[in-house]
Amino acid sequence: MKLLSDKMGCNQSTVDVERSSSIQKLNAEKKNSMDENSNSKVIHDHHKNGGMKTNGHHMNGHTNGVISNKHSSKHEEECLERFRAHLMAQLQAVAASGGPPMMPQPLVEGDPRLVMVPAIFTVKQTLAELQHTPLPSSSALIVTYLKSGTHWAWEIVKMLKKGEATTDNIPKEMAHIEFSPPSALKAMNDGDSSAYVTHIPIWALPKSSYSQTKTVYVYRNPKDVCVSLYYHFMNMSNANPEGFPPLPFDHFFEMFMGPSETNIMGNWFDHVADYWDNHRTDSNILCVTYEDMKKNPLKEVTRIAQHIGAQDNDDLLQQVVKATSFSSMKKGKEASETHLEIVFKGTMYRKGDVGDWKNHLSEDQSRRIDERVEAWQKERAEQVPLIFEL
Ligand code: A3P
Repeated sequence: MKLLSDKMGCNQSTVDVERSSSIQKLNAEKKNSMDENSNSKVIHDHHKNGGMKTNGHHMNGHTNGVISNKHSSKHEEECLERFRAHLMAQLQAVAASGGPPMMPQPLVEGDPRLVMVPAIFTVKQTLAELQHTPLPSSSALIVTYLKSGTHWAWEIVKMLKKGEATTDNIPKEMAHIEFSPPSALKAMNDGDSSAYVTHIPIWALPKSSYSQTKTVYVYRNPKDVCVSLYYHFMNMSNANPEGFPPLPFDHFFEMFMGPSETNIMGNWFDHVADYWDNHRTDSNILCVTYEDMKKNPLKEVTRIAQHIGAQDNDDLLQQVVKATSFSSMKKGKEASETHLEIVFKGTMYRKGDVGDWKNHLSEDQSRRIDERVEAWQKERAEQVPLIFEL
């Protein structure tokens, strides 16, 4: 596999200069943000304050202006209120426990595999519940490795299911299997239009969850995932420098390339391979790439509509494509997703580009991913289609 920089005739030193200036810019931004947060033991302080102070925003559940959309329905407001309460309770529990914000854990009793799990997740409780109470069979499930287009796909699926290209203010996290406790997930059951989300590796997910619902698995070039996830982590460390010390990109890269226990929800290679391998024999799992969605959104939205059994009339499909474009979602959703400011400010709709890795990965890092992907493809009975250039 040849490096893209070689293919483009691009001089590696240019890449390195761009990479180092991107990283320098990021470190400067991080420093500013940390300076702003000079009292920024955010998570650790908030129980003293009775509310959360983050980047100057107070989150106390009522007056924070988290969502001030006049048009929000009562259902949306209730969902948000429940979400805020849950988030606050989880953050307070983490702060009070004094434990690490993330640690490697077994997800399934008796299975030796460990993955890194954020302490605010209620993943074990929910997985146990899912064994007895599967997701409604009329719902859809969006599965991704982190930073692969989850918000985008969730929005598309919700619009298709309700047959209307309109967005709502319900936080995606409410529909997240690993984040929401069973009671919150039940409250998300909107009948036929329900759409759930997860990053849980397939080996840990009860089979009924993905084979009795229509599942859409979205994957993305691991190099872009690595960069996007880096920014996600950086913002977590801005919000909570004690729990997440500043992370140089090179250090983060090694975590990304490392085993499951150094990565949230396991490592990328296992995650994608396992869903891909299962999709070959389970027609309930549709695989879609982020890059295809960028290149030909109408085609991919149509595939998704057909897979989940939604209406696929041309008008609706076109409207959904428009309403879920990066610019529409950044404008429409980012403003309403201020609940995420606590830890993930600005990372959910960051650039939305294909190939940002070229500004971040060194030649050696890029080559290491190429080699890993090559070896990984050789192990597969059928290679995973990768439409992106590595
Ligand atoms: P970048 O950080 O590369 O910009 P997730 O939703 O799984 O957390 O993924 C977040 C990534 O998807 C971010 O990538 C984000 O910008 C991108 N994204 C979000 N909405 C998008 C959209 N409508 N179109 C394209 N990319 C989108």
